[in-house]
Amino acid sequence: MAGAYDDRDGKIWMDGQLVEWRDANVHILTHAMHYASSVFEGERCYSGKIFKSREHSARLITSGNLIDFEIPYSVDEIEAAKQATLDANGLTDAYVRAVAWRGAGEDMGVASAKNPVHMAVACWEWGNYYGDAKMKGAKLDIAKWKRPSPETAPSQAKAAGLYMIATMSKHAAEAKGCSDAMMFDYRGYVAEATGANIFFVKDGEVHTPDADAFLNGITRQTVIGMLKEKVVTVHERVIMPEELEGFEQCWLTGTAAEVTPVGQIGDYNFEVGALTRDISESYEKLVRV
Ligand SMILES: Cc1ncc(COP(=O)(O)O)c(C=O)c1O
Repeated sequence: MAGAYDDRDGKIWMDGQLVEWRDANVHILTHAMHYASSVFEGERCYSGKIFKSREHSARLITSGNLIDFEIPYSVDEIEAAKQATLDANGLTDAYVRAVAWRGAGEDMGVASAKNPVHMAVACWEWGNYYGDAKMKGAKLDIAKWKRPSPETAPSQAKAAGLYMIATMSKHAAEAKGCSDAMMFDYRGYVAEATGANIFFVKDGEVHTPDADAFLNGITRQTVIGMLKEKVVTVHERVIMPEELEGFEQCWLTGTAAEVTPVGQIGDYNFEVGALTRDISESYEKLVRV
């Protein structure tokens, strides 16, 4: 399956029904299109099992609540919808995208309480998010946009509105030949990439920013657990930009990114070292258990 994402064969689950892929459409006056009233999940299914599936379904509901809407499905119902979509498309190894949004309705201003909340699930085959960076290390730009304060936007929501600056940052990075951009937060602290969390290694210990102004990723939490099991010291703390020079290794974590080594951020270089490889390989094994 390939081509534009709106022009493919297959089925998409929409509001309780499996519909033809090309018929999974919304009206132009959908509230989410105008005001970003949308939340989503990115998940990966490995050999027929979605990794941490229930956590993703629960986060989707929480994200909806954080931007002030109630998804009209329970975790169990979302689980069933995801499985039905995978089955309908005959996929066992796939990326799964669940999305919920305020639709068209009586409101067309900023308020949207009268508009119904919809949900859809699509899935497709998706390889490495950063292409061959998995082997040689991704090259990252440094974004000019900053992750907002949690008092400006609900940072723990996987909400469409938070991706506007991510998309602009990634476009700027790609224009410079980079795979992604590392973003600072509103205080100037190291935060994360546009769709993945970040880790650094120095003197055999791991350092990762406190997840207080960006999504505390399910993969991030998994990798911290793996490191602790391997008795590697992990420091979750404030990381200042000037510290980048002293780190030896770096990797990104995320459902799409999995564990992707980073070779360069701006002018700073990192080796794809033994701990990075070990964590990347251990993660690949864990998701397939
Ligand atoms: C902005 C952002 N940060 C972090 C992550 C990593 O989250 P997770 O590991 O739950 O996929 C993602 C991906 O979902 C993301 O989009």
